[in-house]
Amino acid sequence: MSKAGPIVILTGAGISAESGLGTFRDVGGLWSRYDWRDLATPEGFARDPGFVLDFYNWRRERVRAAEPNAAHRALARLQAGWPDPVTLVTQNVDDLHERAGSAEVIHMHGTHLTALCAACGHRWPAPDVMRPADPCPACARGAARPDVVWFGETPYHLDRIGAALEEAAVFVSIGTSGTVYPAAGFAAAARAAGARTIELNLEPSENAALFDTAHHGKASDVVPAWVDTLLSAP
Ligand code: OAD
Repeated sequence: MSKAGPIVILTGAGISAESGLGTFRDVGGLWSRYDWRDLATPEGFARDPGFVLDFYNWRRERVRAAEPNAAHRALARLQAGWPDPVTLVTQNVDDLHERAGSAEVIHMHGTHLTALCAACGHRWPAPDVMRPADPCPACARGAARPDVVWFGETPYHLDRIGAALEEAAVFVSIGTSGTVYPAAGFAAAARAAGARTIELNLEPSENAALFDTAHHGKASDVVPAWVDTLLSAP
């Protein structure tokens, strides 16, 4: 492949697995141990906000203790060294891409690191422990929630992502099972717009048929190898 053209990268929980953060759908994954209806829907939050906040407080603590791995670092290297735009879109709510050195990361499913006021939309740094009815610093109402996108809600930045997919020469999907839409539809959209599609994942995803090439293995192996090949191309 020549060293030219915009790249769009989509990452999922698999890229952070080797940093010690669990995935959702693998054996032992979060959604095999917990019911996503209780923990990742507005209805679940309305039923039991304390339970939901405790879950996100625990996950935030895990994220703060985790370190980026070689795959996160390789993508930061690619963003710094590629001559054309590299749009990094993540479904992850951790900040490991940023801590690995990526300058710009599109968090389509939000982030653990901010709290969101459900009443006025104000965002602020999430405290270590969020509690039900924490007052919003802007409007003082007790409507604080994690700034993460739950099932039934619209992911963030879809216009910007759609525009990048239209322009992409290459679309690469890393560490995602390809089961949650709209992200699961990005490979088809990029391909329809003319991009070459690549999958880097432990195993073939649900979307495997939509990729022109695939490299299966641990993210910390396959992502740096792919980036090195790209950056050393003439
Ligand atoms: P999943 O748990 O659905 O998929 C993780 C993928 O990573 C699987 O295909 C694994 O095979 C792969 N994987 C596991 N370990 C890996 C490793 N070391 N290296 C490379 N790949 C590995 O996670 P996502 O696809 O990210 O949404 O899930 C999508 C969304 O579903 C999440 O953003 C979250 C969840 O519900 C919300 O919370 C809104």
